[in-house]
Amino acid sequence: MKIAMACDHGGLRLKNVLKDYLEANGYIVEDFGTYSEDSCDYPDYAGKAAKAVASGSCDRGVVVCGTGIGVSITANKVKGIRCALCHDVFSAKATRAHNDTNMIAMGQRVIGEGLALEILTAWLEGKYEGGRHDQRIAKMMAYEGEE
Ligand code: RB5
Repeated sequence: MKIAMACDHGGLRLKNVLKDYLEANGYIVEDFGTYSEDSCDYPDYAGKAAKAVASGSCDRGVVVCGTGIGVSITANKVKGIRCALCHDVFSAKATRAHNDTNMIAMGQRVIGEGLALEILTAWLEGKYEGGRHDQRIAKMMAYEGEE
């Protein structure tokens, strides 16, 4: 599985921890930056990762900033993306099962690295349940086509 990753300066350390974990566990990572702790604008990086997922060049995406909020909002502006901001394992599992999310966002200033790794694992391993959720996702995605 190929994972698109991105962060801003506020998420760099956590992104690198998650990236190391993914690569050590056989995932292929495409890292869209940022690569330093110099102040930057998170949409520049989260947008690139989201576009890679939307185009199919990456299977899933993981984005990190200080709160996780800016990168999640950015990713969700890209057509085809369903990005969940998750800071607990229950939500990470539920959003795969019910929302079939293709991206996850986390905040480096919100949670520790150990919990972030548990959340990431739960999300990656979570399976979409389909069924009644199909029509809900279809209705959600239909808003993308509206003016
Ligand atoms: C950067 O200071 C911070 O605003 C950013 O990392 C993020 O939390 C925005 O949502």
